[in-house]
Amino acid sequence: MALSTDDDQDSDLTFPPGFLFGSATAAYQIEGAAAEDGRGPSIWDTFSHTPGNVWNGDTGDIACDHYHRVEEDLDLMVTLGLHAYRFSISWPRVQPTGRGAVNPAGLAFYSRLVDGLLARGITPIATLYHWDLPQALEDEGGWTNRATAEAFADYARLVGRELGDRVAVWTTLNEPWCTAYLGYGSGGHAPGIADADSAFRAVHHLNLAHGLAITALREVVTNNPQYSITLNLHLIRPDNPSSAADVAAARLADGVANRLFLDPLLNGHYPEWVLEATGHLTDWSFVTAGDASLIRQPLDVLGVNYYTPQRVREWDGVGTKQSADGAPRTPGTAWPGLDHVEFLDQGGPHTAMGWTVDPSGLEELLLAIGNEWPAQPLMITENGAAYNDVMSADGSVHDPARIDYLRRHLAAAHRAIERGVNLTGYQVWSLLDNFEWSFGYSKRFGIVHVNYDTLVRTPKDSALWYSRLARSGVLRG
Ligand code: NOJ
Repeated sequence: MALSTDDDQDSDLTFPPGFLFGSATAAYQIEGAAAEDGRGPSIWDTFSHTPGNVWNGDTGDIACDHYHRVEEDLDLMVTLGLHAYRFSISWPRVQPTGRGAVNPAGLAFYSRLVDGLLARGITPIATLYHWDLPQALEDEGGWTNRATAEAFADYARLVGRELGDRVAVWTTLNEPWCTAYLGYGSGGHAPGIADADSAFRAVHHLNLAHGLAITALREVVTNNPQYSITLNLHLIRPDNPSSAADVAAARLADGVANRLFLDPLLNGHYPEWVLEATGHLTDWSFVTAGDASLIRQPLDVLGVNYYTPQRVREWDGVGTKQSADGAPRTPGTAWPGLDHVEFLDQGGPHTAMGWTVDPSGLEELLLAIGNEWPAQPLMITENGAAYNDVMSADGSVHDPARIDYLRRHLAAAHRAIERGVNLTGYQVWSLLDNFEWSFGYSKRFGIVHVNYDTLVRTPKDSALWYSRLARSGVLRG
């Protein structure tokens, strides 16, 4: 396969001492054991068990069976020389109905996981919410309901009491954009609601949940952890930079996708112009006095997930509008408020998700955040690629395209560091092939191959390549 060479590096790049090379996963995507040891149902159980929502009818019932194979997976991380592991805690495993009674077996699982990481010298990065909301809370309105944010703070407090002497980095939410806009805006993700007002309500209640959870954690943790949130920030480029209409389209997309999260989290207020631009879809009355100060909490590190940039233009209303949603089931547009914004394909090379490979977007994004908030440390909490990997006759998985993707994005991250961005680490998505949400098991993001019949793990060539990088801290030219 022809690998692009536009930004090929020819010299070795050394990452700063202490830079955390690790990998990331999420509970529903890998754990399985969906109805074991007292775990309650989540919105993803309901959604995936509803025909038509997920490719091939796949569910997370078994997934990678990580719940039963946690020791093996921990040993795998040691083999790969990972410094850090970013995992998520399943709210319904810990608190089956999202409120009240705790499930001790659920909590004990994460306690064992954290102990297992520390015993192996691996830094635990724990995410409290990676999309598996307890179904009982969804039945009361889920993220459209302010009470869910309050329940989330209680959940954070009880997890913090248990693990708050050992977790190094606490991440409140993973990609609230996806929860709000795919979960409640397009319906392509659980709980499958397609309603703009609900999506914006979710945006606010997720922001609020983040702030309340950090405050709750601070009350109970006893070590000195870092607090964070992970955002999938969108690098959005106008198709024609000299067209005022295209520039305005890009600005609006940026407002809805990025500023509705960044501004309250880091600046302490919502951007008035975005509230106005979306005012025909929601009245924003659910933002109440005092919320801004609850949301804005000092962040020790801002997690950034990056896969691909976006290119947009003003839609003239003619023909079929392109969509950047990526989900197979997209009633309406994924991003509410962008009726006149068209997302364009950006050309190849593409990953198996159909996402354009463009490392320059990562550098540009990191620099943009670094320039606006120079004192804010950043971590790449996800970056990686799905490809149609096959197991060779020799028992190896040769995935040169993934190595190329990772190498070029790491080189871009290194360029950002050299240009002054305070980047503290890089977590590759993902440690294992896993349940890729509405795409089920059809998309393989792992650096480790999982055979879904036998559940055998096989490190791909990319895992071996990544382990050399993690051990040396040097990206070879
Ligand atoms: C973002 C999400 O956090 C993760 O769950 C997902 O699998 C990857 N991106 C790839 O789409």
